[in-house]
Amino acid sequence: MLTQDEIKQLVAQQAAQLVQNNMTVGIGSGSTVYWLIMELGKRVKKGLFFRAIPTSKHTASLAAQQNIALAELNDIDRIDITIDGADEIDTQLQLIKGGGGALLQEKMVAAASRELLILADQSKLVPQLGKYPLPVEVIPFGWKQVQRNIRETYNVEAILRMQDNQPFISDHNHYMLDCHFERIEQPDVLTYELNAIPGVVDNGLFVNMADLALIGYPDGKTETMH
Ligand code: A5P
Repeated sequence: MLTQDEIKQLVAQQAAQLVQNNMTVGIGSGSTVYWLIMELGKRVKKGLFFRAIPTSKHTASLAAQQNIALAELNDIDRIDITIDGADEIDTQLQLIKGGGGALLQEKMVAAASRELLILADQSKLVPQLGKYPLPVEVIPFGWKQVQRNIRETYNVEAILRMQDNQPFISDHNHYMLDCHFERIEQPDVLTYELNAIPGVVDNGLFVNMADLALIGYPDGKTETMH
């Protein structure tokens, strides 16, 4: 039986084979994507050339260490494929992302991509989104008003994410509220409602964005969901 980390490595190795010469590829963030970057680094050493659009500072630095060529989202037209992880995936391929705090750039890169492929081990599959706290990225000014708004509107906890006893700061200098919805009935409605609250930058619901998910299982099997 494979460990969770070995499953992440397995799906990442398979996904890395999809990258072809001269492609422009969005590279997600997180521990599954770490293995993707390592695998792509090996292929670059053997002569593969592609441009990577990173979704976080951490991913940019890992990719640079692997001699992967980086490009700016502003300098390209369309991204051929983006490969990323997720925190929850439902049967319709709707996602919760942002556990690592990179949802804003992840969503922008995904939106600019012809295809979004999600990599995950089976533990991320859920019948309904919401058990994983939904990250909502907010500007630090007046963030408590946003917190109160979400608490009162939805009757859910909206907890300021902390790191080393300080508020967690995203790559774009925002705070993160982790919202404990438990069950999200209509992800499409919720994402619009949350983003309409003044002070909200974006939220971790990725609705109708993923085209494919490659899911790995402890027995070493993988499955592609459409
Ligand atoms: C980063 O902000 C997230 O959206 C990640 O893609 C997500 O948390 C999955 O990460 P892991 O691959 O580490 O589980």
